[in-house]
Amino acid sequence: MKTKSTRRTTSLKLGNTADFNRIRERIVGVNQQVPLLNGDTRIYINFDNAASTPALREALDAVNEFMNWYSSVHRGTGLKSKVATQAYDDAHRIVAEFVGANLRDHTVIFGKNTTEAINKLSYRLPLTKDDVVLVSLLEHHSNDLPWRARAHVEHIAADPLGRLDEADFDRLLEKYKDRVKLVAVTGASNVTGFLPDIHRLAEKAHANGAQILIDGAQLAPHRRVSMGALDDPAHLDYVSLSAHKMYAPFGSGALIGRKDTFERGEPEYRGGGTIELVTVDAVEWSAPPERDEAGSPNVVGAVAMAAAIKALDAIGMGAIANHEATLTAYALEHLSAIDGLEIYGDTNPQTAASRLGVIPINVRGMSHFLVASILGAEWGIGVRNGCFCAHPYLLHLLGLSGEESNRVRADILANDRHDMPGLVRVSFGMYNTAEEIDTLVQALTNITRGKYYGRYEQDGKSGEYSAIDWKPDLSRYFRL
Ligand SMILES: Cc1ncc(COP(=O)(O)O)c(C=O)c1O
Repeated sequence: MKTKSTRRTTSLKLGNTADFNRIRERIVGVNQQVPLLNGDTRIYINFDNAASTPALREALDAVNEFMNWYSSVHRGTGLKSKVATQAYDDAHRIVAEFVGANLRDHTVIFGKNTTEAINKLSYRLPLTKDDVVLVSLLEHHSNDLPWRARAHVEHIAADPLGRLDEADFDRLLEKYKDRVKLVAVTGASNVTGFLPDIHRLAEKAHANGAQILIDGAQLAPHRRVSMGALDDPAHLDYVSLSAHKMYAPFGSGALIGRKDTFERGEPEYRGGGTIELVTVDAVEWSAPPERDEAGSPNVVGAVAMAAAIKALDAIGMGAIANHEATLTAYALEHLSAIDGLEIYGDTNPQTAASRLGVIPINVRGMSHFLVASILGAEWGIGVRNGCFCAHPYLLHLLGLSGEESNRVRADILANDRHDMPGLVRVSFGMYNTAEEIDTLVQALTNITRGKYYGRYEQDGKSGEYSAIDWKPDLSRYFRL
């Protein structure tokens, strides 16, 4: 549901700008020039951090250094193998510490990303179709579809601003009682930046005999995660992470979870690395995490992830949260002053500290595909548009009726996406600046007034717009 905040005249000052300029220097590619439709170039503005963050120099440097020692892990006898094994084991420990887990009670299982981590958990929990998993309407498909395949899923409702409706959570807990085996909710919405009170949800889940998974893909790069001890009623049983959203772009992610879950049962992937002993008719599985890390692991990815995490820790999650809250308040204040711009979710700059810097918008009367295309072609600003792998949530935020949803479904099945509902998403990272937001505000002010110079055409199958007669030669910028 869209809301428009009242205009505010106060101007917010960015705190610690000098410190964050130093962080900016550590972001790989931050000063990359990109071509514009009018023939100029400008430094790219990346407001698509909720999809993937750029790399921190620390992650790249650690990988470059590690590559001299890169070797097989766990089974090699040479010194390089010992160094590589130590690095891989240390990476497990660093990830555990980062989310407040302890390796006595918890295990860290490396994999590709959050999607893989959640699918793994869905296989490893002994669920039946009678068991209930409570997810919320806010979820990314990666924390919804895996559960639909394993159990009976109920969606916790959201309010018109996209906030998780805790009264509905209480109602579902009460309704399904001890059938609820797991509560699986996002730590932060990838669409509105809403932050559920995960520890309060955890307490309620535990009081009901259920466990809780927090999809940490969006939360962990922006806020301190504290899993806590298993005897704390507010502890988190499982957390998933994606390194490519945490300034380490090397294809790794992690599932951090209670060890007892992974000490029993069989892994969904079987093979090398997962076993102690195999005879022709018996298998002795390894202890966690090896049991669940089948095949040769992505050691480079784990090293990069751990190096980025150490860098985030050194910067301080509190400082990152403060800086991003200031950026978010500044953006909300200025975006809400643009006539014709619709902002979704919470639009209040005063509450910026209690949500993430993810702001979904639309220009009234204009396709989100077109707005995103103009921002890229004429302003060098990278955003994302569409439904952000959260279709149920988007339909809710846009207030689409059942009939309209059916029309969308029919269009997609007919391969016609020219009228797909969606939003434009602006998402901040710790290195973004107020000046970049000023450019965005200028761009959107112009667009809402119809001031853009390109001519665009839409591809009906994808819905995307592109500037007519403008095809930048991508191989000029990078080619293999
Ligand atoms: C909240 C949330 N969960 C899960 C995912 C999936 O992450 P990945 O693609 O790294 O598996 C994303 C990605 O955007 C996300 O934002």
